[in-house]
Parts: sequence; C-alpha cells; structure tokens
Amino acid sequence: MALKSKIKELQERREKLLRGGGEQAIEKQKALGKRTARERIMALLDEGSFNEYDLFVEHDARDFDMDKKTLPSDGVIIGTGTIFGAPVAIYAQDFTVAGGSLGLMHSRKITKIMDHALKMKMPLIGINDSGGARIQEGVNSLAGYGEIFFRNTLSSGVIPQISVILGPCAGGAVYSPALTDFVFVVDNISKMFITGPEVIKTVLGEEISMEDLGGARVHSEITGNAHFFSSSEEECFAQIKKLITFIPWHNGQKARTADTAEPDPGFNIDKIVPDDPTLPYDVKDVIKSTVDNSDFFEIMENYARNIVIGFGRIGGRTAGFVANQPLEMAGVLDVDSSDKAARFIRYCDAFNIPIITFVDVPGYLPGIDQEHAGVIRHGAKVLYAYSEATVPKITVILRKAYGGGYIAMASRHLRSDFVFAWPTAEIAVMGPEGAANIIFRKEIMSSDDPDGTRRLKIEEYKKMFANPYVAASRGYVDAVIEPSETRRSLLHSLAVSENKMIQVPEKKHGLPPF
Ligand code: HXC
Repeated sequence: MALKSKIKELQERREKLLRGGGEQAIEKQKALGKRTARERIMALLDEGSFNEYDLFVEHDARDFDMDKKTLPSDGVIIGTGTIFGAPVAIYAQDFTVAGGSLGLMHSRKITKIMDHALKMKMPLIGINDSGGARIQEGVNSLAGYGEIFFRNTLSSGVIPQISVILGPCAGGAVYSPALTDFVFVVDNISKMFITGPEVIKTVLGEEISMEDLGGARVHSEITGNAHFFSSSEEECFAQIKKLITFIPWHNGQKARTADTAEPDPGFNIDKIVPDDPTLPYDVKDVIKSTVDNSDFFEIMENYARNIVIGFGRIGGRTAGFVANQPLEMAGVLDVDSSDKAARFIRYCDAFNIPIITFVDVPGYLPGIDQEHAGVIRHGAKVLYAYSEATVPKITVILRKAYGGGYIAMASRHLRSDFVFAWPTAEIAVMGPEGAANIIFRKEIMSSDDPDGTRRLKIEEYKKMFANPYVAASRGYVDAVIEPSETRRSLLHSLAVSENKMIQVPEKKHGLPPF
C-alpha cells in the first residue's frame, strides 16, 4: 500500500475514534452543561500543544457480552501538553463511552500517563467523569483503581497532582482525587460520594439527591474535599490555569517568577485594623495590600473561613499565605481550620514555596463539641506542619496572639525565620479579661467594688502584656514594624532567605497526627 493510502487509513481510524461514544451520548452530555472529554482537554491546554497517546487502545473483556462491545479508546483520553508553556500530563474520562467507567485497559492508560508525569517531573491533571468501576470487568476494575491510588501516593510531594471533578465520581473512585493536592468542582456538574443515593435508599431507607449528598457546594463548604469551586467549566479551567502559574512543576525546583507590580494603594494598610481591638476586619485586605498587583489566589475559600490560605507573589516570587480571619469566629483555630492550614503548609513545604503567616488569633476554640471532635489531634497538625516545614517562614503578628494560638501560628519557637509584630499586637497567655478574672480573683471578690476592681485589673494586665514589646524584649519578635513597612519587610526577608538550608534528624518519615 502506498503511503498516501496508509495515511488515509490512519485518518479514517482516527476520525472514528475521535467521535467518542457517538452523537446521541454527546448530545446527552451537552444537555447537562458538560463538555466532552476532548473539548475539555483542548480548552485547558495551550492551543495546538496536546499530544495524545493510546488512542487505539481497546478493552479485551469477554464477560456479560463485552466481547460484542467496542468502547472507543476505552473511555479515557490521555496525553501531554502545556499550560502557559508549563508541561503537564493529563487524562480525561469520556462519559460518552460506557459512562466513563473504569475497566482494566482504561486504568492502564491512566497509570501510563501517571508514570510518565512522575518520570518526566511534571504536574498531573486528572479530569474525572465516570460511573466508577466498570461493573462487567469485576476485580480487574478494582485492581485498576488500586494501581492508581498507589501511584497517587508515590507521586505525592514530588509532582503537583490536580483533580477536576466534571461529572459523577462514585464509589472508591473518589479516593484518587482525595489523594491529590487540589480538587476542582463545578456547581451542578460535580458529584462525589462513596455510596450513591440508590445504596443509601436500600440500606438506610433514606431518600437523598446526588446534589445534597455530594454536590460541588457540599464539598466546598462542608466536607473540605474540594479546594476550588466555580459555576461553569470555563471558570474552572481559568482557575486551573492560574494555579499552574503559581506552583513549580516538581519538588526539585522553585515556582517561576512573574512580572512584578506594586499592590493597590487603595487598601491603605495603616487603616485596616480598627482602633477598637474587639472589632473585626477582613484579613484578606492585609494580604492584598502586601502582594504584587494585590492579586491573592485563595484556596478553599468557602470552607473553615476562620482561616485564609492561598498563593500570592512578593517581588514576583510565589509565597503561600496563612492568615487568621477575624471576620469569622474571631479567627479562632478549630478542628477544620487546623486541617485546612496544616495541609496547605505541608504543600508549600514540599514544593519549595515560602510561607507567610498573618496572625490574629484568640486561641483554640473551647467547648465540648470541639474537644470531642478531636481538637487536640487536629490542632496538633498545625504545630507539626509548621515545625516540620523547612522552607522560609515569615510571621507577622497583626493583633491577638493568645495562648496555644500564639505558638501554633508560626511562632519563633516553631522556627519561624523572621517574626514581625505590628504595634497593635497583643501577645499573651490569654485575653486580658479571662486572665484578670483568674489571677486577681481573690482581690476582685474581696473588693467593695468588684466590677471596678475587675476593670482596673484588666487594664493592669493589658498594660503589661497586650503589646508586642515583652515578646520583642525576649527576641521572640525580631522587629516591631509599622503596617506600611510590611511589604518591604517581606521583600527583604524573602530575598535574604533564598539559600536557606536546614538539616533535620535522619528518619524514614515522621508521624504527624493524621
Ligand atoms: C459499567 C456503566 C457504569 C459502570 C455507568 N455505566 N456506570 N457501565 N460500569 N460502573 C454505563 C451505563 O450502563 C450506560 O450505558 C452509560 O454508562 C451511561 O450511564 P447512565 O446510567 O445512562 O447515565 P446517567 O443516567 O447519567 O447516570 C450516571 C450514573 C449511573 C449516576 C453514574 O450510571 C450510575 O449510578 N452508575 C453506577 C455507579 C456505581 O455504582 N458505580 C460502581 C461503584 S463501585 P449504556 O450502554 O446504556 O449507554 C466502585 C468501586 C470502586 O466504583 C472501588 C475502588 C476502590
């Protein structure tokens, strides 16, 4: 056969496979506001950058009449490409082919691209849209999932792993996203659950919709399984692309630098913290008044809002920000905010991203609910994560730094490299009211005017400790700075910590309080 006719044959074979599960299934997909797997890859990657592998892969299952079924590319598209020039490995499950269900060859395609990503050291993006384990293939499907989970774990901390949930993600299939670093969900499209509504109805006799069980809002606001929420696939892809600009391609390098511009002066950093220390303010304004272009890329925006995490740049370099949020529960640390912060700190540490911490924390949240939910174990994760992190750590105490919260929020004692405090900082074992009530109880009780004495004693305690100078006199705080000096201090601290190197005791691995 002449080359020309061989090329024609190739084109025809390709054409057929590129149609996926056929017109009817594609129409059904579109009616749900979803793109096809191929369209998703094209929308996400730089134009013309996609190289596909394993287009011609076929399943060889025989049971349940599977030998009579052809499943184009076995329901998943894999390949490599670029996003703003950054190399990425990608797979997208094709729901139009047997509901994107995962059979043996389908799983082998995914593990092939995972191996490739790890070997070539590039981020991995998985687009999930699947009915889960292909029921007809039995244990082979389960084996496939196991191989994926193993590779997710092996790659953890080496390459960034991003999961995009653009359809159902049912049964144990959700554990691959759960093992990855960032999970993206889209309103009305994403569904994640271990046991679906049918099973719940059978076992528990309860009726529940897929949306209420594990929709995008549930995972962004309640479970904390999702890191980014959006209202359309288009918005979701814009978020993924932006994330890729902030993070390094693997753990052996630093994030690329970007053009620098000063923050928006409209934020007026000197005026953010109110004069009255009991009034709240938005800590995101503090972050935006210090980062380049005032561009703060928040992560898990709607989960455990009492702590804020995300990326920003200082002088063109990526930094990870962790900040107590006085607008929500006075910025207290609790079970969920501890989990949220600790995981992010570990991400930054694994990928050479310096951590900047803004502190305004009244302590850990008291009460039986929190105690019984395990605030000791979860709270300890923050201590562990900060202590373990060897990337440059910079702390700015804005206002309250009380008790365990003071220690946990990147204090000097957990080896923060630079600790700054604003003049508004109050560093103490606990709040002045609580402290005065305890240590001056006898004097207050025996006084002719207990309320007046209490007020006096509170003032006395405040004068003594509700300031940054006692901590500064011990060297726990390196410098007391004006708010307007913050960006300059961060720029300088980052510049002088470029070559930070730390020796840690040799061990296989530590035992964080998971
Ligand atoms: C084989 C499947 C499938 C599956 C869907 N299909 N899920 N085929 N194995 N798991 C097929 C359907 O038969 C159908 O084929 C096509 O995909 C589209 O499915 P529909 O049901 O028509 O789509 P829709 O109405 O949109 O419903 C989507 C769905 C539903 C909610 C995901 O299909 C569903 O409930 N599927 C089963 C989910 C599930 O229980 N999976 C197994 C979980 S156990 P035709 O030929 O008719 O077009 C599991 C264990 C993993 O995953 C453990 C890992 C550790």
